[in-house]
Amino acid sequence: MPKTSTTLTERLILAGTASDREIAELVDDAGLDAVVAALVEEILSRCEQPVNIKAVHIALDVDHGDERRRVVLRVHRDEPVRVVDEPAPVVWSRLGITVTDLIRRLYGRTDHRRTGDFHNSFVPDAPSPQDMYFELPEIFNSATQATGTVIAGCAAHSADLGSLSVRSGSDKWASFHWYTPHYERHFARFRDEPVRVLEIGIGGYDEQLGGGSLRMWKRYFHRGLIFGLDIFDKTELTEPRLTALVGDQNDPECLVALAERHGPFDIVIDDGSHMNEHVHTSFAALFPYVRDGGIYVIEDMQTSYLPSFGGSPGDSAGPGTSVGLVKGLLDDLHHRERPRRNGAEPSITQRSVTGVHVYHNIAFVEKGTNGEDGLPGWMDVAAWDALGATDA
Ligand SMILES: C[S@@+](CC[C@H](N)C(=O)[O-])C[C@H]1O[C@@H](n2cnc3c(N)ncnc32)[C@H](O)[C@@H]1O
Repeated sequence: MPKTSTTLTERLILAGTASDREIAELVDDAGLDAVVAALVEEILSRCEQPVNIKAVHIALDVDHGDERRRVVLRVHRDEPVRVVDEPAPVVWSRLGITVTDLIRRLYGRTDHRRTGDFHNSFVPDAPSPQDMYFELPEIFNSATQATGTVIAGCAAHSADLGSLSVRSGSDKWASFHWYTPHYERHFARFRDEPVRVLEIGIGGYDEQLGGGSLRMWKRYFHRGLIFGLDIFDKTELTEPRLTALVGDQNDPECLVALAERHGPFDIVIDDGSHMNEHVHTSFAALFPYVRDGGIYVIEDMQTSYLPSFGGSPGDSAGPGTSVGLVKGLLDDLHHRERPRRNGAEPSITQRSVTGVHVYHNIAFVEKGTNGEDGLPGWMDVAAWDALGATDA
């Protein structure tokens, strides 16, 4: 299978909510072969581990006008679903769909209708069905399970983020972190959108490849482009809709360069070194590259209290820590109510932090226009106090 270029991937994501005519134009322009290859690559990445005991070959026929492309998939328990390039043994299940419906299934909204767009036939080209007669119940069961696996791979994932996290090998849910319910609360509105997500910290450090959370985000955001940054080289993980970048989150130039190239982002997540200085550097460099309406997340803020991570030794986190950064954002959110220093212009966080949500060890910072007026300009704090005193 040829590797899919990012450009075609992005075009397909956007085509998920486009009109019939726009989709047809894209397919004509990019070519049916390239489009089908990209769609099949996406399906393979979405299929769960098969459960069928007997190996099943499924023919996926994708139609575009009078043209048809057939891809044969091998589906068997304990093997990832894969394309069979050599002439396949007998096909036990055939799935037929138009390229338009397949694009909409994969990249359309999750409430897009999911029935009435497939043809399915059982053992469509059996050479001599009577030879298979005694095996028929087993063939039937395995073909049904295998077909279900492939059809489920042709849709957005419906599992909750906690189970997706466990299945993808991320630690964002269970023993140490209960992050996924918070993520679901704040990310649900992005789920059907063509988002760009950057996560600092791919996982595995220098010992393993990691990538659990990137795979989780790729599944959760079925129209998303997912970028991961790590100080160790994990570029081997790069595949359609998932790009692994190498760099130091404490190097502002590196962060700005990657954001110029791949941003702006709808979501940035800092799950990197958790060194307090690094958290500040990354926020200062990347928050300007979060889109209005987007979110910046800081995980593992407990290091604010760990001196070995640059945290505060006492029982109150200082301004140089990640908790201190978040406390400062609360002041910025209320900058209109505070005396302006020497007529200085409001900072980017004062202008554009519109919400700060903090849970145990994790914060979500919302970006937009912090435009609600506060105290009238002609009223100084003393006058306001005096008014309060009179009222009382
Ligand atoms: C906690 S793991 C990330 C786990 C992953 N996000 C997940 O949920 O599966 C932290 C990662 O940050 C990376 N890291 C450490 N220091 C870094 C730095 N200065 N810049 C970028 N990445 C760093 C480590 O190599 C490690 O892979």
